[in-house]
Amino acid sequence: MCGIIGYIGEKQAQPILLNGLRRLEYRGYDSCGGCIYSERRRDLSVRKLKGKVKDLEALLKKRPLVGNLGIFHNRWATHGQPNQVNAHPHLDCNNEIAIVHNGIIENYLELKNKLLKEGHRFCSETDSEVIVHLIEDFYQRLSLEEAIRKAVKLLRGSFAIGVISKKEPDKLIGVRFQSPLVIGLGKQENFLASDIPAILDYTKNIILLEEKEIAILEKERIKIMDFDGRIIERKPVQVDWTTEEAQKQGYPHFMLKEISEQPTVLRGILNQRIANNKIFFEELRISDAQLLRIKDIYIVACGTAYHAGLVGKYALESLSGIPVQVEVSSEFRYRNPIINKDTLVIAISQSGETADTLASVRQAKQEEATVLSICNVLGSTLTRQSDGLIYTHAGPEISVASTKAYTAQLLVLYLFSLYLAGLRERLSEKRIQEHLEELRKIPDKQESILRHKEKIAVLARKHAHFGSFLYLARNINFASALEGALKLKEISYIPAEGYPAGEMKHGPIALIDEYRTVICIIVESKVYDKMLSNLQEIKARKGKIIVIASEADQIIKEQVSEVIYIPRCWELFSPLLVALPLQLLAYYIAVKRGCDVDQPRNLAKSVTVE
Ligand code: AGP
Repeated sequence: MCGIIGYIGEKQAQPILLNGLRRLEYRGYDSCGGCIYSERRRDLSVRKLKGKVKDLEALLKKRPLVGNLGIFHNRWATHGQPNQVNAHPHLDCNNEIAIVHNGIIENYLELKNKLLKEGHRFCSETDSEVIVHLIEDFYQRLSLEEAIRKAVKLLRGSFAIGVISKKEPDKLIGVRFQSPLVIGLGKQENFLASDIPAILDYTKNIILLEEKEIAILEKERIKIMDFDGRIIERKPVQVDWTTEEAQKQGYPHFMLKEISEQPTVLRGILNQRIANNKIFFEELRISDAQLLRIKDIYIVACGTAYHAGLVGKYALESLSGIPVQVEVSSEFRYRNPIINKDTLVIAISQSGETADTLASVRQAKQEEATVLSICNVLGSTLTRQSDGLIYTHAGPEISVASTKAYTAQLLVLYLFSLYLAGLRERLSEKRIQEHLEELRKIPDKQESILRHKEKIAVLARKHAHFGSFLYLARNINFASALEGALKLKEISYIPAEGYPAGEMKHGPIALIDEYRTVICIIVESKVYDKMLSNLQEIKARKGKIIVIASEADQIIKEQVSEVIYIPRCWELFSPLLVALPLQLLAYYIAVKRGCDVDQPRNLAKSVTVE
């Protein structure tokens, strides 16, 4: 929910840390700040404020921080208002130690009361501030590294922490427990960050910290130990993302860039996963024998990833014949779902850090189910807690609204369904090849939708003033309707609902009048005629209709004036195409309304707390 970046080296820390913080802005952006150790004054200086990185940048222009050691932070408020006092870094009573924190300290009240009784003075309402006072307590008699080790053992919840001290200015210390933290290795310099893109400008040599690990970074060396002080040897990995991939490349917003990348992402997945007409998942880690033992599947995910799961259910059931249930992680984790060692639990997540999805995985493992994660972020917590893994390889997704990660998740689910269908001999080799052929056509078809995006922009601008939207579809595209509505509401703040069109008469029809836009997904499918009847019912009630239809559909053309045509394709795979006009509609409506498209209010890219 927050972003952390730290630097130790020979260069000026401020520009490096600001640059990294800009890349982490998707993680939280209600307040931010930084602390740098000044060699000259032998002191820690802090600048922080309510606002975004650009505001911090303006402040630092007037009052720069000079030094080669520092920690910066982007906040997404959990405990305490987003304001200057609650912004990180936080200092101890004597301004000797500074910390930044991502996560939640669940036992902070208990710790705070104890520390207050001992005479510590708190400035903020945050849970994070207890961390620095706790370290201060142990620091009176121990080294910084030992004090941190003792302190973190008393914390409950989730935390990634960055710490510096003016008494030991040759060290930058990071701690990871259930919140992400990576180390970047440079020459005469080292970095600490919540994720890889934040430090890609400086190094591609990365160490992924594991749970309950402490990293002590010096200019020329690093040391990793566990919470019991045991030294851990870890080799760095070379990351192949380019810095450009994590930047806008000339697009006005990351969201539009990421929407436009979908054909390339899907082509990449198809090339990587299919060789000699066979489907491969080299990182799967679950054997065919294990997959053959599976009797049922549970999909757990949140938000857009949950909608991908709904499409996955249709694909998995129809292709592999295995019964599938889909549930939002936040519900799954508090029920007693009937799962056992014959259940495959598929956890879908772009970030791999979503708290509810991680908790669902822990619960599934307790019941001895096999857990497969479908994830985009290399080395994220989810990938490390699962038995098996399929990376979506969509590249960094920066915009809070998920687009390319969604269609990448869909494609992986289709391929996995076909893989199971082959394994369980539900489909002949020939039928599998026909499916793969159809999938291979999808990226070109997506490109043709993107070529006509200006037409969608015109429609969007026309409807941008409407007060509410209803998205209707049936069968597999019901999930597309839910996803279209989520995209619109999260970035334009217009109330929007997705509904299975067959449910219309059971309530939502009462909403339809000339002030509501109704988006109907009526592509070629076995429910086409049913959708046509729904269309008549909406017309009769004067709803403002936009239809997403298959190319050259004459019937729709005669019925409605506002139609977005998409290339023809099998109904099973149509969500891969339908997603694009829905994303573009939401995008252009939000732009027209002057919304902050990439960083919508109240949201964060990865929801690492409940
Ligand atoms: C998507 O547009 C949303 N911002 C959100 O629903 C997101 O999909 C959800 O929080 C799940 O995130 P994850 O894929 O990183 O687990």
